[in-house]
Amino acid sequence: MEVSLYDKIGNEKLRKLIHDFYTEIKKDELMAPLYEGDFEGAEERLYLFMIQYLGGPTTYSEQRGHPALRRRHVPYPVVDDTIAHWLRNMQVALSKSEIEEEHQAFLWEYFQKTAEFLRNRP
Ligand code: HEM
Repeated sequence: MEVSLYDKIGNEKLRKLIHDFYTEIKKDELMAPLYEGDFEGAEERLYLFMIQYLGGPTTYSEQRGHPALRRRHVPYPVVDDTIAHWLRNMQVALSKSEIEEEHQAFLWEYFQKTAEFLRNRP
């Protein structure tokens, strides 16, 4: 049986990462308003999405369907500023995590690539 990255990182560390990320987002004056007050819902969606992306249970798609991340981000400006803030908040969360360096590096690459892929305004 193949061991997924989700298994290697572990549910608890992933949950803490996403929770710490939203703790930063809430304090971020540029980012916080985008979430329209539903930080808890947003945290749950990103958490379930990451579990699925890393090869864990597919609860995200059972609840939300295909991730279609570009489509789901159309209402929000993914531009230089918001990309920089999103990534900085995630970097803070990663630095507080006890995720192994190797896995942190993988996640960081993934977040950078995905943020760029989601860019949706000139
Ligand atoms: C870079 C700038 C980004 C901005 C401004 C942004 C903003 C947002 C906002 C405002 C939401 C709605 C919150 C909600 O679910 O209620 C959202 C949802 C979401 N974002 Fe982002 N995001 C960014 C990057 C990313 C990246 C890099 C990822 C993936 C690693 C990501 C994954 C998600 C997911 C999975 C959802 C929930 C989709 C759903 O099921 O509705 N976002 N984002």
